[in-house]
Amino acid sequence: MTVALLIVFLRMPGRAIPKVDFRTVRPIFEQRCQPCHFAGGKMYQRLPFDRPETIVKLGTKVFTRIRDEKSQTLIRQFLASAK
Ligand code: HEC
Repeated sequence: MTVALLIVFLRMPGRAIPKVDFRTVRPIFEQRCQPCHFAGGKMYQRLPFDRPETIVKLGTKVFTRIRDEKSQTLIRQFLASAK
């Protein structure tokens, strides 16, 4: 029974891309894009990075400023999850 459930689970579509929500990627932006893209910063009005929509809209454009592979992978997974 347990094994059967496990097999069903492993064959579920979409397993290849883990679900990553905004809470997981938000610290990347908080650590590196302060103060400009956060409340009080000069870009907050145009591109607020405390909103998932901004990141979804920019997509891989943020990779011009976020170059390490670990962060890029997480952001890619977030973008795929947000679709
Ligand atoms: C010192 C202030 C400052 C910081 C810190 C900052 N930005 Fe920006 N950002 C700006 C300004 C000003 C603009 C608009 C002018 C421009 O395009 O350079 C901008 C525009 C952008 C744009 C849109 C223009 C483009 O290049 O496509 C993106 C994407 C962006 N920032 C991403 C980031 C990311 C990601 C970080 C953190 C890793 C970050 N920024 C950190 C000031 C900042």
